[in-house]
Amino acid sequence: MKKLIIFASGSGSNAENIITYFNSGNLAKVSLVLTNKADAKVLQRCERLNIPAFYFNKSAFQSGTLLGMLNNENPDLILLAGFLWKIPSGFIEAFPYKIINIHPALLPKYGGKGMYGNRVHEAVRANSEKETGITIHYVNEHYDEGGIIHQEKVTLTSEDSVENIASKVHELEYEHYPKVIEKLLMDDD
Ligand code: GAR
Repeated sequence: MKKLIIFASGSGSNAENIITYFNSGNLAKVSLVLTNKADAKVLQRCERLNIPAFYFNKSAFQSGTLLGMLNNENPDLILLAGFLWKIPSGFIEAFPYKIINIHPALLPKYGGKGMYGNRVHEAVRANSEKETGITIHYVNEHYDEGGIIHQEKVTLTSEDSVENIASKVHELEYEHYPKVIEKLLMDDD
């Protein structure tokens, strides 16, 4: 059984979707969810789903305490799902091509520091984009710049509100993120 660890900072709807997707098979299991927000909704989701979940602060993140924990867990993949801190280079060196992020736009557009969640959709709407989508990519030392693994697009209309755009993008995320993870795990064998 492959082991997955998820990092999430907020609601955790993607984390829940990944947990339930892999619960229904026997390829992989989410063994741990980690958050940098003590009151993140993802913690409640994990309690309900019976998945160990922990909060960590910046010093644990940067001092190596968390990295030590990850090394002990020895995950097959580390998945960022709405995680907003930059991953330290020590993590990237310890887990090369094993840290994956999902970004709610078609990178390289609408990426970089400060571009997350509805901020991305607001910018997409302000520019009257005719389409947006998701990008699943490897994590490197720069925000949203690692090699692209998979992208999916969705059409927008001038009537789409920020909330509509967010919901179209979430639909793509729920459908494709688990499948892309599954494929990476199978290709790794
Ligand atoms: C998702 O849309 C994810 O793509 C985005 O945050 C949302 C988290 O939602 N990530 C970023 O913006 C990263 N730059 P969730 O907590 O409900 O899964």
